Amino acid sequence: MIGATHGQQRVRIAVFPVAGLGTRFLPATKTVPKEMLPIVDKPLIQYAVDEAIEAGCDTLVFITNRYKHAVADYFDKAYELEQKLERAGKAEQLALVRNVLPEGVRAVFVTQAEALGLGHAVLCAKPVVGSEPFAVLLPDDLIWSRGDGALKQMADHAQRTGGSVIAVQDVPRAQTGSYGIVATDSFDGQAGRISQIVEKPTPADAPSNLAVVGRYILNPAIFDLLETTQQGAGGEIQLTDAIAQLLTSQQVDAFRFHGTRFDCGTHLGLIEATVRYALDHELLSDAARKLMQNALDEMGVVEN
Ligand code: G1P
Repeated sequence: MIGATHGQQRVRIAVFPVAGLGTRFLPATKTVPKEMLPIVDKPLIQYAVDEAIEAGCDTLVFITNRYKHAVADYFDKAYELEQKLERAGKAEQLALVRNVLPEGVRAVFVTQAEALGLGHAVLCAKPVVGSEPFAVLLPDDLIWSRGDGALKQMADHAQRTGGSVIAVQDVPRAQTGSYGIVATDSFDGQAGRISQIVEKPTPADAPSNLAVVGRYILNPAIFDLLETTQQGAGGEIQLTDAIAQLLTSQQVDAFRFHGTRFDCGTHLGLIEATVRYALDHELLSDAARKLMQNALDEMGVVEN
């Protein structure tokens, strides 16, 4: 590949921790995993999967629990449905169903028996990942971008540096308690080596307002560190704490990606993402804009 002259091998494996209970979205998530909630015309998980495939990943590892059959079913081949669509000559729909997992991409499912935290979920991927750099994508963080997806931008950076890369964005200081927060050496506006990382610090304790977004490219050395990581913030085994260990011996860069991140772990984030993707949709955009305008006009009239 052009430009891939030094640094590390291209990241091939993407890990998706999807074992969360999604209690914020009850009652919908009583039967539908939150990763299956739709944003316009695709379930949330599909956006993260498409981003990973665009970045060059061909092995997708889903860390699930015993309640998440719907996620595995979704990525399974739907023979009967495909046959029906084929017979009915519905080529477009057939392509949509088949492209859930394009040819050459494989999905692996690993069960996380106990919800012990994000760090523990990532550790569950160790037997599949082995000893190569890998990506972690938290599907709740939906990243919309006009050009290259966030993970592709990060994979390009990782290939240049040979180190680990973590996506970051600025957040208001009052919100540091919701994120991993990093301090960097020599941040050049887009990237900089992380010197410190803390999980969910209070605004007073936060080393900066640069927050971790759910995209990581990690050196496999993280697994040995996760094996011995103790419970941290919220009583959970935190990925952030293992990364804090990793950066004492290896380069871990913070990377400010181009794109807009929606926190689909919250109601407002889900609404915001739906609005954005509807307005950006090649077929629905104009109609969506009109109906949003109508809704605003009507509701405005009612309220006044
Ligand atoms: C996780 C990480 C946190 C990161 C966040 C991004 O937290 O632990 O460091 O900033 O994702 O979405 P969670 O939101 O799962 O509590």
